[in-house]
Amino acid sequence: MEKLTITIKTIFGVEEVLKEELNELGFDEVSVLNRAVQLQGTWADVYFLNLNLRCAMSVLVEVKKFKIRDEQDLYKQCMKIDWTSYFSIDKTFAVRGAIQSKLFSHTQFPFLLVKDAIVDTFRDKTGERPNVNIKTPQVVFDLYIKENQATISLNTSGAPLFQRGYRTEIGQAPLNEVAAAALIRMSGWDRKSTFMDPFCGSGTLLIEAALLASGIPSNIDREHYAFKNFKGFDADLWAGIQSAAPRTCKGFDFEILGSDIDSDMMLMAKRNLRGLPIGRFVSVSTAAFQEVKKSTDNGTLICNPPYGERMGEEIEEMYAELGDWFKNELKGWNCYVLSSNEEGFKSIGLKPSRKIKMYNGDLECSFREYRIFDGFRKEFVKNEKENN
Ligand SMILES: C[S@@+](CC[C@H](N)C(=O)[O-])C[C@H]1O[C@@H](n2cnc3c(N)ncnc32)[C@H](O)[C@@H]1O
Repeated sequence: MEKLTITIKTIFGVEEVLKEELNELGFDEVSVLNRAVQLQGTWADVYFLNLNLRCAMSVLVEVKKFKIRDEQDLYKQCMKIDWTSYFSIDKTFAVRGAIQSKLFSHTQFPFLLVKDAIVDTFRDKTGERPNVNIKTPQVVFDLYIKENQATISLNTSGAPLFQRGYRTEIGQAPLNEVAAAALIRMSGWDRKSTFMDPFCGSGTLLIEAALLASGIPSNIDREHYAFKNFKGFDADLWAGIQSAAPRTCKGFDFEILGSDIDSDMMLMAKRNLRGLPIGRFVSVSTAAFQEVKKSTDNGTLICNPPYGERMGEEIEEMYAELGDWFKNELKGWNCYVLSSNEEGFKSIGLKPSRKIKMYNGDLECSFREYRIFDGFRKEFVKNEKENN
């Protein structure tokens, strides 16, 4: 069977954990690119990856790769592609992607050239043209140009894969689901010990953690995938891949806990959880983080506290209290904070053991690890050794 070149796009900094996720799913030969990874595979793999990947934004299948000399050359090369073999006239389409090239004076122009080539090919072959739909296209093509190298791909996902289909309620400053899944992987959480988010908002980190631990794909409820609109879509193959995915959860023998000071947020989190098979195994409550008591000696805490950008609290004071709370209440825990507020991080007053650059949307953030040393235990072990 002919192998497809599959490029999986993600967000900045997530490439390595996406590779790790692919290895876990049984894909061993994965190369890491900038904001993407690449592998060879089949259409069955393409369907499977769209459904099962948590740290990916979109899954692309390469159509053609070529060198271009100038702007018009892009159009000419694109006229050599038989676009009618990829989709039918009744489907709307869009061309998206990224351009890093001095050959084009206007960054939108290459997309227009490819769109023209698609429309002209249809007109020449059928006398009719398909319609463009920028916002909600049924079929999406990806154009990537780096200097004089152009790559055209089918974007088999369409809308980005962080649109899971499970979130009915969106909080004030929600974390993108792909970023949430990536943070959980970066933390190295073992999926069998307590997980906590004391700033849980609408519950993104809790939901992604519970879905990961249950093995249920994060996209289990998503219906839209652009691959369904391409010619040659194999509905039986897709149905088989969907029905092979786990959908139910019998519960966990550890806790997944969330809290937030805002009771409206808590309602949102509850509504989001209600529709999911893991929903009743995640406990949420309205509380300020300072009031939260740990229920186990160790665990993983990941949080995305207010950054001060949109919400205007007394931010530094809050981060200082957060640091104190980690030290006093969470001995033995691994705590992780995502924030864009450097002064806030300084106010935490603890030395991070890891700092990872991340983006939350367009906002540059840092994801920091604080291993909260359990002084008593270490002292105890030391004394034990000295006494023996
Ligand atoms: C950036 S949002 C978190 C968004 C969340 N990760 C999501 O995906 O929806 C920060 C949250 O912290 C909550 N918050 C602010 N101060 C708090 C405090 N002292 N204790 C607990 N939660 C607090 C806010 O209500 C808000 O929901």
